[in-house]
Amino acid sequence: MKKMVVAIDGHSSCGKSTMAKELARVTGYTYIDSGAMYRAVTLYCLEHGLFKGDAPDGENLRKALRDIHLSFQTNPETGRSETYLNGRNVEKEIRSMEVADKVSPVAAIGFVREEMVKQQQALGREKGIVMDGRDIGTVVFPNAELKLFVTASPEIRAQRRLEELTAKGESTTLEEVLHNLSKRDRIDSTRKDGPLKKAVDAIVIDNSNLSISEQNRKVLELFEEIAQK
Ligand code: DC
Repeated sequence: MKKMVVAIDGHSSCGKSTMAKELARVTGYTYIDSGAMYRAVTLYCLEHGLFKGDAPDGENLRKALRDIHLSFQTNPETGRSETYLNGRNVEKEIRSMEVADKVSPVAAIGFVREEMVKQQQALGREKGIVMDGRDIGTVVFPNAELKLFVTASPEIRAQRRLEELTAKGESTTLEEVLHNLSKRDRIDSTRKDGPLKKAVDAIVIDNSNLSISEQNRKVLELFEEIAQK
């Protein structure tokens, strides 16, 4: 069977990563979480005092970018890929509300995107990958064999995200999560470089009323259909 690139884009907290991880698991493909890369750059900015209010100081971040080394390693215990920032495992820290709150302005900076896109394209050179994000089907892999655009209603996405954060021990409210998601979606969709948008040839999956297993079945069917062509 030919090796493919699967590009999964969509709104914040719509279940893209659950979908992408499961598809990678059953197909033996490598899963790459492109959002984790923007989150890790944001964590670096927070730790190095590079924020000026809501946005990072562009000049200092441009200089710092060469000192930011990102990588992924599989955790042998869980079999899951985890994000490393300059050799340090930051998988937990990059999922905090603080990082979620600051990441969109970082991801809107053109030179940050240029560098991340370059690294993402290098990770996909050998194919056999499932990558999720916002611009994977439009900018990173415009020739991906399978492109999915995932969405769900804002209320359902906020509820799912709240459950995830609460399970991790973060204290927050539905209103706060909904506010963060709407703000991120607005910044992500309206930025100049690599805005969140559906690729013309992407297949839309609205999972508001789908269970995880229904969603997984649907995605695997689409994958198999294209892989056999
Ligand atoms: O998928 P996520 O929530 O972990 O993404 C974090 C942020 O990074 C999100 O606000 C949008 C941004 N992002 C992006 O601009 N481009 C990508 N390919 C992936 C994420």
